[in-house]
Amino acid sequence: MNMQNQKTLIIKVEPTNPEEKKLKKAAEIIQKGGLVVFPTETVYGLGANALDREAVIKIFEAKGRPLDNPLIVHVSEMRMVKAIAEMNEVAEKLAKKFFPGPITLVVDKKEIIPPEVTAGLKTVAIRMPSHPIALKLIEVSGVPIAAPSANLAGKPSPTKAEHVIDDLYGKVDLIIDGGETKIGVESTVVDTTVHPVEILRPGGLPIEEIQKVVDVKIFDRKVEIPKSPGMKYRHYAPEAELIVLYGKRKDVVRKIREMSEELKEKGLRVGIVATKTNPYSGIDAEILELGETLEEIAKNLFSSLRELDKRGVDIIIAEGVEEKRLGIAIMNRLKKASGNRFYRV
Ligand code: TXA
Ligand code: MG
Repeated sequence: MNMQNQKTLIIKVEPTNPEEKKLKKAAEIIQKGGLVVFPTETVYGLGANALDREAVIKIFEAKGRPLDNPLIVHVSEMRMVKAIAEMNEVAEKLAKKFFPGPITLVVDKKEIIPPEVTAGLKTVAIRMPSHPIALKLIEVSGVPIAAPSANLAGKPSPTKAEHVIDDLYGKVDLIIDGGETKIGVESTVVDTTVHPVEILRPGGLPIEEIQKVVDVKIFDRKVEIPKSPGMKYRHYAPEAELIVLYGKRKDVVRKIREMSEELKEKGLRVGIVATKTNPYSGIDAEILELGETLEEIAKNLFSSLRELDKRGVDIIIAEGVEEKRLGIAIMNRLKKASGNRFYRV
């Protein structure tokens, strides 16, 4: 069935208490091998039946994603996990503690998962999202749902339905608009097949929380070959050039003020991503305020990069944050989005 050529349907669904009738329609599309975009607590996902290889291939086509970058399989209950993966003791422990939630567990896969999902790896990434729409959609579909973030490859992940519409309208069968996502950065990816477990991607669940439950080795990209294939690609990037400055707040503000003046004199339009706009008053730039807490900053990060692109700036300067808890994921995304143009001041 080729639904790709038809117009994309967009439906609003109530995020805390989703209407079952609407999700039944979405589930039918999944069962027929179609593509459905749905909100999770982290970012929006671009979903298809994980057991249907042709449907899974459509995900890669819609996103323009390289075929060697494996997908996360989303489940709604532990019974579903058992059907697709071999869980060792540590994986069981982490699932018990953190499912449903913003964590993805890499575990040994079972035969039933087609190789397209895992890019030929023997492991599969599994996540049980906590968003009521995501959980209900998987449950009603009755199959695990493979879903990467619902952006075009390389772009910032979508945290609102409008971001998805900008990237994927006309390329998917259905977009479920469930409002803005809560966390704003993707899940923390943990490889449970090694000892101690390894963080492959910092994300919405702080590493400090995982360390309370199991021993953790933090992936160091300087000394090892990326194990998570997604880590080698440029990611999360806006159209505009991005520079990240971090250090003492006072120094960062002074440096950003200086730089924006210089860039403006060169005739460039500058965007600033700041925790607070006050310190930048009087500066001729597009200034976006993310908020003071790490939670607020994570939630607003990707959408601010997209917003500054819409406003047509040439260059974005972002304030870095302290690398602890959610700050680790925030800095990871900023570093990648900037192509490693981050400097201590
Ligand atoms: O929060 C999230 O995780 C969102 C929502 C939609 O659930 N999904 C998401 O998927 O961010 P995606 O495809 O954008 O990122 C998945 C990451 C990639 O870095 C990929 O390489 C890695 O997980 N991954 C997937 N399967 C893997 C495996 N078997 N081994 C190692 N890494 C894997
Ligand atoms: Mg992604």
